[in-house]
Amino acid sequence: MEKLYEGKAKIIYPTDDPQILLAEFKDDATAFNAQKRGTIAQKGIMNARISAALFQLLEQQGIATHYIDQPGDGQMRVKAVQIVPLEIIVRNVAAGSLCRQTGLEKGTVLPFPLVEFYYKNDELGDPLLTRDRVLILNLASLNQLEQLQTKALGINTQLKTFFADCGITLVDFKLEFGLDQEQNLLLADEISPDTCRLWDQQETDPNARVMDKDRFREDLGNVETAYQQVQTRILSQLETLSL
Ligand code: TMP
Ligand code: ASP
Repeated sequence: MEKLYEGKAKIIYPTDDPQILLAEFKDDATAFNAQKRGTIAQKGIMNARISAALFQLLEQQGIATHYIDQPGDGQMRVKAVQIVPLEIIVRNVAAGSLCRQTGLEKGTVLPFPLVEFYYKNDELGDPLLTRDRVLILNLASLNQLEQLQTKALGINTQLKTFFADCGITLVDFKLEFGLDQEQNLLLADEISPDTCRLWDQQETDPNARVMDKDRFREDLGNVETAYQQVQTRILSQLETLSL
């Protein structure tokens, strides 16, 4: 099948229906704007399952997403949307670039969730934006920015509680949104250990607790096992919620 688009972690295919696309999740892993490359065995299958589960959970909570269904392993049928070129990061605990850029100590619990907007632009290295930069670059309107902020915080509330019930701290995560034909903002892309920082609440050791792509970024080992563990906990927690 002719692909429509290939990104670092997914390939997008058209379907017979122009309103529906097929996303195929890849095992390829990249970090630091693709300067580091590798593969994580079974990642495509695991991330598709995890994303599908979390999108269904959020839909149940009244949050509109692009998710339709999972026709096969590593696949997801989604509503066709025009992706807003923003990466919206929500942080509950300091880690990663927040620590590097501000000097905050890793692990500091933030007094309130921090929402940040980054420019989704590989050539520029996905720079951090300000509200006025978003408006000047015409990446979103003021009304859309406010909607994105409200939606991101609502998603954080739901996901933080859900992950806590799985024994996992949701440190931070990245969201992308898209506009459908009626200009509704739908949560898009994926939510997976590639796009979240997830710390095992049973572990105090700063390396042992990492259950996400930082294991790959920082060469911590046991990457597949960590993703597998996230998948197992999420799916069994959803079963207890009868979702
Ligand atoms: P950061 O601390 O490197 O800015 O990352 C914040 C969160 O965003 C973290 O959960 C990882 C996720 N993320 C992505 O999903 N894609 C990216 O390209 C980057 C840099 C981070
Ligand atoms: N996905 C990003 C990349 O390759 C970075 C990351 O997740 O760390 O470049």
